[in-house]
Amino acid sequence: MSAIRRVAVLGAGTMGHGIAQVVAMSGYSVTMYDIDMVSVETGLQRIRKNLDKGVQLGKVADAIRDTALAALSTSTDLTEAVEAADLVIEAAPESMQLKKQIFGSVESAVSPDAVLATNTSSLSIDDIASTLAHPRRFLGLHFFNPVHVMTLVEVVHGPKTDPELLDGAVQFVRRLDREPIVVKDSPGFASSRLGVVIGLEAMRMVEEGVASPEDIDRAMELGYRHPMGPLKLTDLVGLDVRLGIARYLYETLGSEAFRPPRILEQMVADGHTGKKAGRGFYDWGEGA
Ligand SMILES: NC(=O)c1ccc[n+]([C@@H]2O[C@H](COP(=O)([O-])OP(=O)(O)OC[C@H]3O[C@@H](n4cnc5c(N)ncnc54)[C@H](O)[C@@H]3O)[C@@H](O)[C@H]2O)c1
Repeated sequence: MSAIRRVAVLGAGTMGHGIAQVVAMSGYSVTMYDIDMVSVETGLQRIRKNLDKGVQLGKVADAIRDTALAALSTSTDLTEAVEAADLVIEAAPESMQLKKQIFGSVESAVSPDAVLATNTSSLSIDDIASTLAHPRRFLGLHFFNPVHVMTLVEVVHGPKTDPELLDGAVQFVRRLDREPIVVKDSPGFASSRLGVVIGLEAMRMVEEGVASPEDIDRAMELGYRHPMGPLKLTDLVGLDVRLGIARYLYETLGSEAFRPPRILEQMVADGHTGKKAGRGFYDWGEGA
């Protein structure tokens, strides 16, 4: 992976635009692909806005912003986006079927030496790789949201991932000025498996009337120095997103710790999915 110069990022949404930004800021040439012009343009606007804000706040040098923007191109043609890439990072919606289909198309268009990575937050790397002709070159690079702020990247290897690729991926992540951790392909990897269990237990405590959401969050913020309590974090991530992950982890790991609490099922059914809906465990409506 040392010879990486050109990177293709597939998907220009929440994660894709952020990944394209940090990769371009680190001196790589990046093509950001999405299925339509509106999505790529929106992603590009978000990158420009992030970089301009970084410059205003003194966190990004003018030269880095200019280099990053010059290194970025966009495309709505998948073959054009990946054919010259040394590394492809997929950040399309969280669907096994979609990811398999994307990598099927990618494999027939990339060079035989290109490395293929997915930013999936929960799906099995091994399962995605199962339809690939060359699964040894496939791995997970799990970035966190917002990518330009969060430094953690989980480097996830499946049973077929080439061990040498793993070392190269760790070096690549360090070059992005991010902190890699190496994780075996396993449901929820290292981050979601632990983070979600705290959130679900906090919801059960609300159900049982142990304390208010505010006080449960304060317990973790002040008592354990978490930067944000588990219920506020759930509101930001989205209760529907958390429910999807909890169901998946409950199914795959079988532990009662991941059984979705009734309150979570009910709030999602009522449309109280967190900040984006104006209401979750907190009121996020206007004037709140
Ligand atoms: N949002 C998060 O906090 C977060 C964190 C870590 C990982 N992830 C993972 O990252 C991936 C992307 O999530 P997101 O939040 O950026 O989603 P998103 O919905 O914001 O963006 C997905 C983008 O993919 C595009 N897309 C749709 N079909 C495509 C295709 N066939 N090829 C390429 N692009 C396609 C969409 O147009 C959209 O712009 C998911 O696997 C998700 O689980 C998300």
